[in-house]
Amino acid sequence: MTRQIAVLLFTVCIATISSSNQVAAEKILACYFTNWAGYRQGNGKFEPGNIEPTECTHLMYGFANINSQLLQFQSSDAWADLEVDGGKGYYAQVNALKNQNPNLKTLLSMGGSSDDPYGLWTAAGDPANRQKLITSGVNFIKTYGFDGVDLNWLLPTYNGGTFDQRDDIAALITEMSEAFHEAGLLFTVSIPPSLPSSWNTATEVQAIIAPGVADFISLKTMDFHGAWEQHTHHVAPLYQHSLDVGVDAPFNVNASVNAWLANGAEKESLLIAISTGGRGFTLLDPEQDDFYAPTSGPGNGGPITDTPGFMGFNELCELLEDLGEGFDERWQDEVKGHYAVFSTNQWYGYESPDGATLKAQYVVDNGLAGAILYTLDFDDFHNICGYGVNPIGNSVKEIFGNTI
Ligand SMILES: *[C@@H]1O[C@H](CO)[C@@H](O)[C@H](O)[C@H]1NC(C)=O
Repeated sequence: MTRQIAVLLFTVCIATISSSNQVAAEKILACYFTNWAGYRQGNGKFEPGNIEPTECTHLMYGFANINSQLLQFQSSDAWADLEVDGGKGYYAQVNALKNQNPNLKTLLSMGGSSDDPYGLWTAAGDPANRQKLITSGVNFIKTYGFDGVDLNWLLPTYNGGTFDQRDDIAALITEMSEAFHEAGLLFTVSIPPSLPSSWNTATEVQAIIAPGVADFISLKTMDFHGAWEQHTHHVAPLYQHSLDVGVDAPFNVNASVNAWLANGAEKESLLIAISTGGRGFTLLDPEQDDFYAPTSGPGNGGPITDTPGFMGFNELCELLEDLGEGFDERWQDEVKGHYAVFSTNQWYGYESPDGATLKAQYVVDNGLAGAILYTLDFDDFHNICGYGVNPIGNSVKEIFGNTI
């Protein structure tokens, strides 16, 4: 029996079960662990031991990359990832979580949006080099005990490449998917939330969304708005705000999903992103503090990440806790998101357990495959703020009703 027929029969079975008994297929909750979170101090330090083994269906280990000379997969931080020379061995620690949850799948995520996909382009241009990279990839994934790979350059040629590399990248994606599936491994791809319409028919895009190529496709529906803009807005609106016009109109989860479905992506393989962070602004005029209020720059950084314009939910909720009554938390019902105004001129829009619940419900209502949680280390994993441990991830898990 070919793989296609097996998949078809499986799909028919699931469809029969769900139409007769209303039993929903399990939703995917793919959660990102980042190997640099172990360097944070105090309450921000996050290591594999902080992961709840039954919160997520899949763990995505961010990030590894490609050695562009050798055309091989490689660790991005040997001291964190591996066990050599007194290294922390996070690869082994993450994969050991499968002893506590045998249903858990682990994927090594390659690249990340800030990584230069140079090695990928170098390999893609030549059939022998493609095979070299793919063979190294399969071996690397198996050696360290992962269950698959996640390509996370958010379309390598869109992310800094050139137009004429797209056919090569398309070939690489198709061949890599085949090789990983043949080896019994998972193959997934992360893509940007929106694309210029000229990209819809690109071979690279078509290769990713072709049925059976990716086990799931993660739409990075986050960071729609932030301090690179000169007005306040929510980091990840679920729906359009009434003032969103022109280029801003499609900057929301619902518009992204519908655009990709219109492009030909299958809803049964699409995941949306639920971030665990917030993006903030300094208000130009504290009297104007609604959406589209003018800003003078990024919001102040948080106590853990110290990055202007960004805070993890864990540091934001702790900061708000410490302010006592000194902040104004509001819900914007069009975008279905929380924001907080504090310290006179600080404005942060962020994902909250309530917002995540509605995004998870959106996944269920629209028959999507699931969600990614980006990232585990910014959820309130110490339950400092009293919503429970990992309140964003567990809100999603509860709606998905997974029984892991
Ligand atoms: C979601 O997107 C679809 C397609 O663009 C649109 O018809 C619908 O009105 C949107 N839903 C909301 C609540 O904005």
